[in-house]
Amino acid sequence: MFNFLSRYLSHDLAIDLGTASTLIYIKGQGIVLNEPSVVTIETHSKKILAVGEEAKKMVGRTPGNLTSIRPMREGVIADFEMTQQMLRHFIQKVHPKGTLLRPRIIIGVPSRITQIEQRAVKESAELAGAREVYLIEEPVAAAIGAGLPITEPSGNMVVDIGGGTTDIAVISLGGIVYSESVRIAGDQIDGAIMNHLKREYSLLIGEHMAEKIKMEIGSAFPFQEKKQMAVKGRDIVSGIPRTIFVDDAEIRSALQDCINTIVAAVRIALEHTPPELAGDIIDRGIVLTGGGSLLNGLDDRLREETALPIVTVDDPLNSVVLGVGKTLEELSLLRKVSTHSSLYP
Ligand SMILES: Nc1ncnc2c1ncn2[C@@H]1O[C@H](COP(=O)(O)OP(=O)(O)OP(=O)(O)O)[C@@H](O)[C@H]1O
Ligand SMILES: [Mg+2]
Repeated sequence: MFNFLSRYLSHDLAIDLGTASTLIYIKGQGIVLNEPSVVTIETHSKKILAVGEEAKKMVGRTPGNLTSIRPMREGVIADFEMTQQMLRHFIQKVHPKGTLLRPRIIIGVPSRITQIEQRAVKESAELAGAREVYLIEEPVAAAIGAGLPITEPSGNMVVDIGGGTTDIAVISLGGIVYSESVRIAGDQIDGAIMNHLKREYSLLIGEHMAEKIKMEIGSAFPFQEKKQMAVKGRDIVSGIPRTIFVDDAEIRSALQDCINTIVAAVRIALEHTPPELAGDIIDRGIVLTGGGSLLNGLDDRLREETALPIVTVDDPLNSVVLGVGKTLEELSLLRKVSTHSSLYP
């Protein structure tokens, strides 16, 4: 009886704790929060001044006494204390303390995080007020979110290109049969653009500008028409702000190493897929998700490299949180995907 009541009264949460952004879904309400995973602190006291959207606006613009940090890097927790504070801030924002019973929280985590990292994520959520915490592997969540029939005995390959990591997983019967993860994704692509401009033009640009270049003219496969863009930055030598023009071919070549790493990881995963499941993947193709999958031409490049159908999900930035949310709505599904996962208590 108590169990029934507590389930009824508490607003259970599904969270995608991502390197680039954190999303929260409330049972029965859908996605209620989507903010950058960024925290701004006072450098000396480590006091938190801003979290999320507000903190992202300050990145690269903070005076000396403030620092903007991204506590999650490369898909893992780089700064435990800050991750915890950030998570607590977000949870309390959508679930004010004292109003309801403590929530049950399910969090999507990278499939290859260590036991220690798993414990760190769980602890953060507990300290932030969770009653119970469950972890679910992100590729499984993304597949559920994309509506793939993952609890059936057939193979599905999901490639989740996020901010910090590219996670590749072959899923069947609700569990991961094979997974591969490389620490090359959106952030490293931005980094490659920054390095290129520094090397070729002695121009320093910020993370925002790099991301903008990536979205506008970045690509993994040639465009039909040439694209050009004006880029503002600071000259390393003279220290003076300067504008240069770059085109898509140049940026594409700067991204070559990153893209090749992702392509190679997909190939390795295909080679390791059990033959029975490989047949299913030939029929259904590879499913792309995560914000990084929106890079222009990445689907064409993978299609050319693998000769397989490549399908990008409808909502790549939200598929993980929608999938985790679905397990909140359907606890029987949580049980199914949980039995195969070492991540469950
Ligand atoms: N249109 C676009 N073209 C290229 N890249 C994009 C586009 N839109 C978003 N991205 C990139 O997607 C990345 C963020 O994706 P996503 O939100 O899936 O990551 P995340 O889940 O926070 O990270 P992770 O899964 O690695 O922890 C960023 O690097 C962002 O620059
Ligand atoms: Mg993600």
